Amino acid sequence: MLLDASRPEAIEQAARRLADGGLVGLPTETVYGLAADADNASAVRRIFEAKGRPADHPLIVHVAADAPRAAVDHYAREVPAFAERLIAALWPGPLTLILPRRAEVAAVAAGGQDSVGLRCPSHPVAQAVLRAAATHGVHGVAAPSANRFGRVSPTSAAHVMEEFAALADDALLVLDGGACPVGIESTIVDCTRGHPVLLRPGVLTPARLEAIAGQPLRARDGAAPRASGTLESHYAPRAKVRLMDARQLRAAFQVLGEDARHIALYARSPIETARGTPRRRMPEDAEDAARELFAVLRELDATGVRLIWVETPPDGPEWDGVRDRLSRAAA
Ligand code: TXA
Ligand code: MG
Repeated sequence: MLLDASRPEAIEQAARRLADGGLVGLPTETVYGLAADADNASAVRRIFEAKGRPADHPLIVHVAADAPRAAVDHYAREVPAFAERLIAALWPGPLTLILPRRAEVAAVAAGGQDSVGLRCPSHPVAQAVLRAAATHGVHGVAAPSANRFGRVSPTSAAHVMEEFAALADDALLVLDGGACPVGIESTIVDCTRGHPVLLRPGVLTPARLEAIAGQPLRARDGAAPRASGTLESHYAPRAKVRLMDARQLRAAFQVLGEDARHIALYARSPIETARGTPRRRMPEDAEDAARELFAVLRELDATGVRLIWVETPPDGPEWDGVRDRLSRAAA
């Protein structure tokens, strides 16, 4: 069931659905999430089932912005000083912190980890739902991206409906809040090891995170907990994605000529292709590229091509998130 999120009744209906142990698809500033009450084990199990996600892949718990510290203290055993600084500066916003979990809460959502991922989203619809759900006793809302396991994350309500078309209409309430303004998932920082560790890049640059944390940000290593967003192959459309630089792309399209019709192109540089080639121009600006990335992958995939060739994004740190998602889509 699809509801217009600008109607106040829709927010209340979604909040009640969450409090009753149901599933809600809701917009956040990054991507749409598939939400359930984080403290309701059977509701959370329904998320894993609907996504086809392994039960040991932990979910992020979303908390309301009006009392984020109370919510953090409900789930987290301790909050290191550098994490406090990140919370103060960047919440609400596209940042998830992994913190030591209180043993008695959200065990199913945490996928059995002794930590919990917490995030305070800035999207007004997500916040309205979290606030309304809190009045029904919901402390936090577990929500992975609202896509089936391994697939491209949804940045519109239509994408969510597409992903879960197989669910009965009354099993999923989706709030339509328009297109997500950030477009790629939150930056994840592990705060359980005494120093900040970057588990998943997003739109926040490492330099900015380090300046706020007051500590160097380390790269993930083998000891990092499992995170589906960090699996080598993820975010995959049906078509095969391949990254190439502009020179390689030009040469390949030239050699193939009319035979390249089963190939779609997403590039910043001008590249000559046969007429009718499905193509989209990649924006010059990294934030613009992030915003449209998943929608473009879906759109090109829907043309039925077998291959999507993408021009390798620039090297700058502001492109880390887009580069990361594209290389996983291509893996
Ligand atoms: O922007 C986002 O973060 C979106 C929106 C809906 O908030 N959510 C999202 O969720 O991307 P998901 O489940 O698709 O990705 C969350 C990532 C996963 O890779 C998961 O393994 C990791 O966060 N994660 C969650 N809790 C964790 C924990 N306790 N330890 C390690 N990784 C964790
Ligand atoms: Mg995901």
